[in-house]
Amino acid sequence: MIMDGNGRWARQRGQPRLAGHEAGSETVRRVLNYCRDAGVRYLTLYAFSTENWTRPEDEVSGLMALLGRFIKRYERDLIKRQVRLRVIGRRSDLSAQLRAALERVEQESAGFERQLIVALSYSGRSELVRAARLIAEKVKAGTMRPEDVDEAAVAAHLYAPDVPDPELIIRTSGEMRISNFLLWQCAYSEFYVTPVLWPDFNEQEFNAALAAYAARDRRFGGVRDKRGREDAS
Ligand code: FPP
Repeated sequence: MIMDGNGRWARQRGQPRLAGHEAGSETVRRVLNYCRDAGVRYLTLYAFSTENWTRPEDEVSGLMALLGRFIKRYERDLIKRQVRLRVIGRRSDLSAQLRAALERVEQESAGFERQLIVALSYSGRSELVRAARLIAEKVKAGTMRPEDVDEAAVAAHLYAPDVPDPELIIRTSGEMRISNFLLWQCAYSEFYVTPVLWPDFNEQEFNAALAAYAARDRRFGGVRDKRGREDAS
């Protein structure tokens, strides 16, 4: 999910941008319920990009504080609902406090099957650069040969290598951009863009996205089969 439009939502109401992010965090809570009800196994949220650090300092610190409050508030809930939390991104950019809180929940929830993946200080290009560097180090150390570097090897060095590529990427607020989100993993993802701003994203919108995905999947079933993935439906 590319959660976009918090700032515009706040501006429309004459409120500070942080009020939009606050409302956006409520949407996150609701979306977790929609995913549970729809049987979605993996949900990745683009919460903060590496580019977002260039926003005004009060917005950045406000967003970080909001994330800290969110994790504190929903830690028990995630465990109770058996949702595994994972963070992808440059976690060394985060404060020691936020990092510790996230890592504690990651550890507590590590055994659960359903996953909430939060992209924090994330960029798809950085993720690929990091993978290239890890591979280069292995080649240098002699534990990997250049000819072993194939698609599977790159995929194995991403932040969360065991998470399947997203089948559907939803973006709110109408922008037709990928914005550095999951660049490697989005190769075959379906896109769904809605003009609705993230704080207003609701169950009806979520179901509309799933229905659009299901319709496209049926239409392009043969193509899906050619890619060597699951059976054509
Ligand atoms: C994009 O809207 C939104 C963000 C950069 C932040 C998203 C973060 C949250 C919803 C906070 C809670 C997240 C979690 C995982 C608990 P924008 O500010 O770019 O909006 P604009 O394009 O209208 O200015």
